[in-house]
Amino acid sequence: MMAKTDDTTTTPEYEQFRELFTRRMSIRDLRPDPVPDAYVDRILEAGRWAMSGANSQPWEFIVVRDDAVKRELIEAYVDVNNDFIFWMEQMRLAELRHPAFQVEGDAAEQWERVRTRHTAWGKAPVLIVILGDGRRQWGTVLGAMTFGRHQSHLTDALSNAATLMHLAATSLGLGSQHVTIHVQEPFKRVLGVPDLLMIHHILPIGFSAIDRRPTVRRPLGEIVHYDRYDQDKYMSNRQVLGFLHELRGRTMPAYHTRPAGEA
Ligand SMILES: Cc1cc2nc3c(=O)[nH]c(=O)nc-3n(C[C@H](O)[C@H](O)[C@H](O)COP(=O)(O)O)c2cc1C
Repeated sequence: MMAKTDDTTTTPEYEQFRELFTRRMSIRDLRPDPVPDAYVDRILEAGRWAMSGANSQPWEFIVVRDDAVKRELIEAYVDVNNDFIFWMEQMRLAELRHPAFQVEGDAAEQWERVRTRHTAWGKAPVLIVILGDGRRQWGTVLGAMTFGRHQSHLTDALSNAATLMHLAATSLGLGSQHVTIHVQEPFKRVLGVPDLLMIHHILPIGFSAIDRRPTVRRPLGEIVHYDRYDQDKYMSNRQVLGFLHELRGRTMPAYHTRPAGEA
């Protein structure tokens, strides 16, 4: 059994919300044109209202508009973040590497060519850096931090805040992107972030420089189970790898027609 409700059962609010969450997409090419300060406040306000474990609200935000700070962040991204990702990717099967870091021939020689990949976000007029304060987890039950739970209450809360902020940006007609920071220390130094806090990700916002393209998701029939887990839907390792091959097959051509330096 698939649908629990008939297809016409909905509300205007849901339809409006659906339009919003299906319109949101990662915009990796933003125009440098300024965005109104009030828009930035509205995005921050959405993040403030996110769910968090025991309402511990572990988030703080740095709004970066200063070009000099942006430049330093991009330098850290190229020197440390991309360097780390690139060499990690070279350890994988060639066809399964992230397309931006697939190189042919000698990897060390090719590194210079691809090191500035994924840096278009530096052109965004505003960057919102999402910070997390792990001490706020003290507000929740101790069990949330033990036996394999690690920092999940912290990162889950930050992801919730981020989702609302990305949606708020979309609702204001802005584009946004999720820039993962894998090696945080250099970025924390640039921004003067205290040691105890973490950088969750950087959320660049601005008006989009690209046209909307349709994006895809796995169908509900594949990912939803009713009452108990449907073993027929369980994917073997081989099937998961097949999914990855298919995913890469779709994104590789797009990456390989872009000049180096573009995300
Ligand atoms: C945890 C997480 C990490 C991500 N890291 C990056 C990133 O470092 N760079 C990037 O361009 N996109 C990043 N993304 C965006 C995803 O690539 C994107 O959401 C996904 O491909 C679906 O595309 P869409 O956002 O356009 O719908 C990240 C998203 C999430 C949730």
